[in-house]
Amino acid sequence: MPGHFITFEGGEGAGKSTQIARLRAFLESLGKSVLVTREPGGSPGAEKIRAVLLSGQAKDLGPRGEAMLFAAARADHVDATIKPALDRGDWVLCDRYADSTRVYQGEAGVDPAYLKLLETAAVAGVRPELTILIDIPAETGLRRVATRSQGDESGGPDRFEGEELDVHERRRQLFLDLAREEAYRFSVIDGSQDPDAVEAAIRKAVTESFADELQHEGAA
Ligand code: TYD
Repeated sequence: MPGHFITFEGGEGAGKSTQIARLRAFLESLGKSVLVTREPGGSPGAEKIRAVLLSGQAKDLGPRGEAMLFAAARADHVDATIKPALDRGDWVLCDRYADSTRVYQGEAGVDPAYLKLLETAAVAGVRPELTILIDIPAETGLRRVATRSQGDESGGPDRFEGEELDVHERRRQLFLDLAREEAYRFSVIDGSQDPDAVEAAIRKAVTESFADELQHEGAA
């Protein structure tokens, strides 16, 4: 495909959206066409499923049913948004993707073999060339989310934020395990640094991964 696909993963409060915006600005300054998107959501159909999932309305389905909804949302997102953008030659930056299902629904007890089947069906061959994992201790992330949601009209954490600290820490370890298992596509960034240092580390990872396209431009 002519475009490039980069996903961002990490726990709550890792700073993904800030860093995605910064990477977008960097790539655009190099004249690249960039599409920023997120999961669950990123297409009209998937945004509807997002509302159901994050409100907690789907909780009664159990983790396996929720996993199916995340997969259904992903399938629509791939078909309606990601694949067309990659076909146009865009750089697609996606806030969460299939690794989030492996980690969140995996942690919730869904059989990995079942998750793999769902993933294969949902992504339809569209897999990230690079995954940026922004790693922070669960406690740091939750503190950031708590500060953020004070001014939030929706009030309080969403369905997946409002879990116990040990759940968040287990997810962190699962993300790190994944990064070790699929090291060829992962770059693990220490998200407890200040935002400028995180931005520089991400820029370095991206310019190294896409040396052919960005070689002479990433030094700044
Ligand atoms: P969001 O508000 O987008 O959170 P964040 O800023 O942390 O990305 O909510 C997405 C939530 O859904 C988040 O808690 C992670 C969870 N999630 C899953 O459980 N499985 C998935 O496959 C995806 C994409 C997200």
